[in-house]
Amino acid sequence: MAFDLKSARHWAEELLRQAVGEGARVIDGTMGNGHDTLWLAELVGGTGRVYAFDIQREAVERTRARLEEAGLSQRAVLFHAGHERIGELVPEPVDAAVFNLGWLPGADKALRTQADTTLAAANAALDKLKEGGLLTICAYPGHEEGRVERDMLLEWARNLPHARYDAMIRAYLNQPNDPPVMFAVKKNLRGKRL
Ligand SMILES: C[S@@+](CC[C@H](N)C(=O)[O-])C[C@H]1O[C@@H](n2cnc3c(N)ncnc32)[C@H](O)[C@@H]1O
Repeated sequence: MAFDLKSARHWAEELLRQAVGEGARVIDGTMGNGHDTLWLAELVGGTGRVYAFDIQREAVERTRARLEEAGLSQRAVLFHAGHERIGELVPEPVDAAVFNLGWLPGADKALRTQADTTLAAANAALDKLKEGGLLTICAYPGHEEGRVERDMLLEWARNLPHARYDAMIRAYLNQPNDPPVMFAVKKNLRGKRL
């Protein structure tokens, strides 16, 4: 049977589909064009909620339009704010959090995610996760700043307390131009592995 190994976004989506069901609460830390916010809004159903963040008004507007077109605006709360403010703005525990780092396609690349705010946001997302919840991060080491971000996340994930979190990375090892990598962190029950 023919198959391919697919990409970081696909790996993240596969895991998220296990962690997110009807009624789930989810954070989309990087709205961008709203593709992730939309499929997450579909996944959480009519009783769920997606809390989505972006620093660019254009991203918020594109996402709002995408949700409206699909008739799913009620399922998402869109913040024109940095994801480092998750702790302050997300009002309840969540089942999953999703980050797709980098810049908004077609916009100013200077407005990309940055290692220090990504780190703050990843920690804030872990704090918001319910026990058994999942955080996924797709990082793009194909350019210098993306490499810095990937290396920072590697260090961060390696040092998460192992009894509380399962942390992994999935990445191609031999492909040119450093393709995207996926980090996944699952929060375990306190004092007990699931
Ligand atoms: C690769 S895009 C996200 C793609 C998006 N998930 C989608 O499905 O279309 C990365 C986004 O992160 C946003 N971003 C950069 N820094 C941010 C921050 N501190 N907080 C929230 N979003 C940020 C950028 O503006 C950009 O829109």
